[in-house]
This record gives sequence, structure tokens and C-alpha cells, in this order.
Amino acid sequence: MDRYEKIIESIEDPVVVVSKEGDIIYMNQSGYILKSQLGKRHFHQLITYPFSLEFIKKGMSVKGIFKEADGRRFLIDAFPFEKEGLTLLIRDITRFIELEELSKKEGIIITISKLLSAIFHDMKGPVGGIKGAAQLLKEDIQDKELVDDILYETGRLENLINEITMVAKPIKLSKKPVNIHKVIDGAVKTLEKQFPQVQVERLYDPSLPELYIDPDYMHRVLVNIIRNGMEAVEGKGKVKISTGISWDTVYSPKGNKIFIRIKDSGKGVPEDMIDRLFIPFVSTKKKGMGIGLSSSYKIVKEHGGILRYIGDATFEILLPVPERSNR
Ligand SMILES: Nc1ncnc2c1ncn2[C@@H]1O[C@H](COP(=O)(O)OP(=O)(O)OP(=O)(O)O)[C@@H](O)[C@H]1O
Ligand SMILES: [Mg+2]
Repeated sequence: MDRYEKIIESIEDPVVVVSKEGDIIYMNQSGYILKSQLGKRHFHQLITYPFSLEFIKKGMSVKGIFKEADGRRFLIDAFPFEKEGLTLLIRDITRFIELEELSKKEGIIITISKLLSAIFHDMKGPVGGIKGAAQLLKEDIQDKELVDDILYETGRLENLINEITMVAKPIKLSKKPVNIHKVIDGAVKTLEKQFPQVQVERLYDPSLPELYIDPDYMHRVLVNIIRNGMEAVEGKGKVKISTGISWDTVYSPKGNKIFIRIKDSGKGVPEDMIDRLFIPFVSTKKKGMGIGLSSSYKIVKEHGGILRYIGDATFEILLPVPERSNR
């Protein structure tokens, strides 16, 4: 064996030199093995297939030709050899593709189980509360406070279910004239108890007109975004909420939108998350479901507005100011 032959024999992928008529001019050891595995007919189909390609007919080389043979998948690099022959470098990618398909499936299963366990985790609290209150109620049926507890916990469950079904459900707005600052205050109030250590700073522009929006839906949006800010500072830090008329050159050059900016004192959104922020079920949090931003995005869009991350740990909501005639 000369030196060059040794080199070619040392290649673990089949190397086959084939004539236009399909005769094998040269083949390394791996080529023989593949031939015996596939059988004569399948092997012949595999090595003559490149001749059917236009570029090959024109005498050019082509890399990465995909061909299936006997249920296995191959990528072939074909280079012209002498007058009308081809040198083929054949790679078996069957296992590679199988692995890729498997990991896709596994990825989905992991996402679903993560999602379910997040949902059940969130349900555990209220269910436990209801059970406890009911047990106590059994002992003292007169205790009205326990009924309130049950109603409160049931409400929490209801909210959770609403959030989850929102992802798939279309949004039906019932709009009315609303003072946006009142809605923001309401959202902050909802979260204050849960994050007592987070300092909320409000910088409201008192000249803002009333907006024509659905206050309940907008409450949810604000709760989601402010809560994200409070979670980002890990319960201790600052969240600043400011409002004003937007003069964004793209979205509101006429000043016909108001902005609400929510900025926290955390590290901001990591670079690799920025493009995926608004995709449902994308979350970096252990107990997060990743639906807060995606459902908020939908709601704001339904209002004719915009929700976006503008960097510097700041989320911005733009909402249209109603035309004078609608006010
Ligand atoms: N203020 C923020 N600072 C840094 N990262 C953020 C901030 N807000 C959102 N993110 C990132 O965006 C991801 C998606 O947020 P989203 O609100 O949709 O889901 P979540 O907060 O993880 O879960 P859920 O809101 O469903 O409880 C978060 O997991 C986090 O990685
Ligand atoms: Mg969230």
C-alpha cells in the first residue's frame, strides 16, 4: 500500500471513486463495509445518484448531497474524477438525525412537564388554604372569616386559570374612559403585600388624558410587568414607574400615544433572552411559567398599543390617546 492509499484507508467514512457507468474504480475499507451492509442494489443507487444532478453533469463538485438508502440517510460530497468519474465522500447521518429528532421530542416533553409542575405548584397554595379553612369550618360552622378565606383562595385559583387559558383564548375587550394612573396604582397595590421590601417610585405626568381601554385587562398587564420587575430585584430594590406623552419617532411621531415605563434596579434582560421575551412558556425562573409577557403583549396589541423592552431594565407600554371625538 502506498502512502496515499494508506491515508485514504485511514478515513473512517466511505470513500468511493465511481465511473459514470456505475463501476467502482476505487473504494476504501469503509466503502466495502457499507456496500456489504446496504447490499449491492442499494449501494449502487447511492453511489450513482450524484450523476443525476445538473451541477455534476456540468463537471462541478457538489457537497452535502442528501440521499436515503435502505432506510439510512447519507450526506455525500462529490468531486469530479478524471474524465467522467466521481470521487465520493459518504457520511452516514442516520444516527445524527435520530438524535436530533429525539432531542426535539424530549425538549417538548420537558417543556410540558415543567409547565405542568409550575401550574400545580401555583395551585397547591390555594388548594391547601381551602382545605385548611374547610376543616376548621367543620369544627365551627359559624366562623364567617373562614368562608372569606375560602373565597379569597378560590379567587386566586380563578386568576391562575384565567392566566393559563388566556394564552390560547382570543381577547375580548370592554373599553371605557379610564385614568391610567388609577390602574397603575391598583396594580402596585395588588403586589405590595407580596413584595413589601421593594420600593416603588412613581413619576406620573398629571396632564395625561383619559384613555379608552379595558381596565381589567390593563390591570393584568401592569401586574405582570411590575411583578417581573419586583422579581428581578429579588424582592429587594426599586421599581420606577413613569408616564408621559410619547414622541417616539416610529410609533408616535405625532405624540398620539402615552408611555408607561417600568424600570427596575435589577440587571436587566440578559442578551440571549431579548428576542424570546414575548414567546409563551419561555422563562428563566424556577417557578415561572413564562406567560406573563406573552399575554401582556397580546393585550397591549389588542388595544392598538405596543409593549417592548427598551433596554436598561425598562419595559415600555405605548397606548393610543383617543381622538378628540371619542373622548
Ligand atoms: N424586569 C426584568 N428583568 C430581567 N429579566 C426579565 C424581566 N422581565 C422579564 N424578564 C425575563 O423574561 C422572562 C419571561 O417573562 P414572563 O413574565 O413572560 O415569564 P415569567 O416571569 O418567567 O413567568 P410568569 O410571568 O408566567 O410567572 C423571565 O423569565 C425573565 O427571564
Ligand atoms: Mg412574569
